Amino acid sequence: MCGIIGYCGPKVAAPILIEGLKRLEYRGYDSAGISVLGPDGRHRIVKKKGKILDLRKAVPAELPGGTGIGHTRWATHGEVSDRNAHPHTDAAASVSIVHNGIIENYSALKQRLQGKGYIFVSETDSEVIAHLLSDLYDGDLERSVKHAVSLLKGTYGMLAMHVNEPGVIVGARNGSPLVVGVGDGEMLIASDVTALVEHTKQVLYIEDGEVVRMTADGHRTTDLRDKPIDRELQVIGWQIEEIEKNGYDHYMQKEIFEQPESILRAIQGRLEPENATAHLGGLNMTSRELLDIERVKIIAAGTSYHAGLVAAYALESLARVPAGSELASELRYRNPIVERNNVYFAVSQSGETADTLYAMRELQRKGARVLGICNVVGSTIPRESDGGVYIHSGPEIAVASTKAFTSQLSALYLFTLLLARMRHMSYEAGLRFMHDLERIPDLVQEVLTRTEHVQELAKKYAQAKNFLFLGRGINYPVALEGALKLKEISYIHAEGYSAAEIKHGPIALINEETPSLFIVPNDGLRDKVISNMKEVKARNGKVIALGVDGDNELADIVDDVMFVPKTHELLYPYLTVVPLQLFAYYTALELGRDVDQPRNLAKSVTVE
Ligand code: M6R
Repeated sequence: MCGIIGYCGPKVAAPILIEGLKRLEYRGYDSAGISVLGPDGRHRIVKKKGKILDLRKAVPAELPGGTGIGHTRWATHGEVSDRNAHPHTDAAASVSIVHNGIIENYSALKQRLQGKGYIFVSETDSEVIAHLLSDLYDGDLERSVKHAVSLLKGTYGMLAMHVNEPGVIVGARNGSPLVVGVGDGEMLIASDVTALVEHTKQVLYIEDGEVVRMTADGHRTTDLRDKPIDRELQVIGWQIEEIEKNGYDHYMQKEIFEQPESILRAIQGRLEPENATAHLGGLNMTSRELLDIERVKIIAAGTSYHAGLVAAYALESLARVPAGSELASELRYRNPIVERNNVYFAVSQSGETADTLYAMRELQRKGARVLGICNVVGSTIPRESDGGVYIHSGPEIAVASTKAFTSQLSALYLFTLLLARMRHMSYEAGLRFMHDLERIPDLVQEVLTRTEHVQELAKKYAQAKNFLFLGRGINYPVALEGALKLKEISYIHAEGYSAAEIKHGPIALINEETPSLFIVPNDGLRDKVISNMKEVKARNGKVIALGVDGDNELADIVDDVMFVPKTHELLYPYLTVVPLQLFAYYTALELGRDVDQPRNLAKSVTVE
C-alpha cells in the first residue's frame, strides 16, 4: 500500500520521480507528491489529491535538483486530500519524508511533539515522522533516522532528506518493502523493482531493521546498532516491455491475454515425463519429508485464496492428502494449531500482502514449515519462507489479479502431481494428468478466441445491480473469483456461492433483475447444477451458463450460454475463470470504470 521512490544522481530528479510513481501507482492512487532538494538548499514539495497525472500537471516545468523523494498514497489515516498527501515536512521545512505503512503509536508521539510546540498540519500518522526527525536531528541524518525509528511502533518503509545534507537520502524499513537500485553514477530506492527497472537491473533488498544511506556515488546499509550489512546485489529479471501496455488498452486486458504464455512459464521445465511427475527444486524438501506430509494448508488473501481453494480440491482428490485453504487474516488471530508433518503454503502474487506475511510468521513461530508461492522475485514472503515456488507470471500491474491466479494454480497443480505420484497415483495416471496440464495453455488460448461473445454478454448484462456466480466442486472457488472480479472493477454487487447453497438463502435475491452465472462443466455434478439453474429459472431469474463444448442441452434451459473446451475434470478452473475475467473486464469498460485502478483499492495490501 502506497509506493515510495527516491533518486540521487546527476539528472533532474523530478521527472524520474514522477515516472517512478507512475510505475508504482498500482500500489495506491488517491494522492501523490514529490519533494526535491533544490540547488538553493530548500525542499520543494508538490503534492496533489488524485492520480499521478494530476501531480504531473501540478509540478512546475522547472524544478531543479538531483535529489528527491516521492510517494503515491492509499489512505489509511486521514481523508484523501492535498494536505494528507506525502511528502510531509516540519514547520521549518528542514526535513521531508515519505512513508509507507502505519505508525501505531503516532498519537502518543504526536502529543509529545505538540507539547514541545510542533504544529501538525495533516491528519496522517506519517507526519509524526517528519516532526520527530526534526526534533531528533543532530547533524547526521542517518543517525537521526535510526534514533527516530527506534521510537516508532508499527510498520514503515520510509525515506528522508534533510536540507543540511544535500545529495543524501536515508531509508529505513520495518514491514514495508524497500529496494535500492544501483545505477551508473546514480542511486534509486523504491517500494518495488517496477520503478527501478527502467534505470538499472542491479538491486539490493533492504530487510526489516535496516537503514540505508545513499548518495549518487553509493550506498551503505547498517542495522539499528550500526552493524554494516553486506549483502550481494541481485539482478532483476524483468524487462521494461513487460511493464508497458504493449498495445493493449489496459493492463488487465493485457494480463488476461498473456495467460497462455504465463501458464506455460509456470509449468515449463518443471515436469518430468520419464517419471510422470513434477520437479520443484525450491521446496527444499527431501522425498522422505514430502512423503511424510499429513496435511496441506494454504493461506492467502483475495484471488490467491481462491487459487488455494481450487488447489485443495485437487490435492485431496489426486494426492489423497487432507488439504484446505484459509484466509490468512483469519488464521493469524485464531491461535492456529500447528501439527508435525503439516505443510503450509503462503500464496501471494505480490509476496508483500501483510495478512499473508504476518500469518506466515505466526505459523513459523509455532514451528511450521511455510512454503511460498509468489510472483514477485525477492519480495518478503519468498525471502522469509522455508522454500517455495516462483510462478514467473511477469509483472501483474492491474489491481484485479488475473494471470497470477492461473499461474498460482499451475504451481499448486505441479505440487499436487508430485505428491500424488508419491502416493496413490500410477505412472499412467500421472502421465495422463501431465499431458492434460501441458495442453492447458493452448486451451486457454482457445477460450480467448471466444472473447467477442463474452463482450456481447457483458454489454447485455452491464446494467444489473446484483449478480450471482454459482458453481460446485472445484468450480465453486471459480464462482467466488468471478464475483470478486466483477465487484472490484465494475462495482456491481456480486456474490459467489456454491450452486447447491443458494436454496439455503441467496435464492431470495432472485428476480428478473438479478442475473445468475452458473459454471456447469461436464463433470459429476453437472446434473445437480442443472437442477439449481432450473430452480432459478422457475423464479424468473436470468441465467447465463458457462458450460463445456458440446453440452447443447444448456442452451434450451438458460438465457445465454458460453462454452469452454473439454479438459480434465480437475483442470476446468483454468478455463472457466478466463470468461469470468473477461466478463468483469468488459462490464467495467461498458460502465466506464477505471479498470486498472478501481476505486478504494491498491494492488499490494501491505497493511492489516
Ligand atoms: O499479492 P496477493 O496475491 O497476496 O494479493 C492478495 C489480494 O490482495 C489480491 O488477490 C486482491 O484480492 C486482488 N485485487 C484480487 O483481484
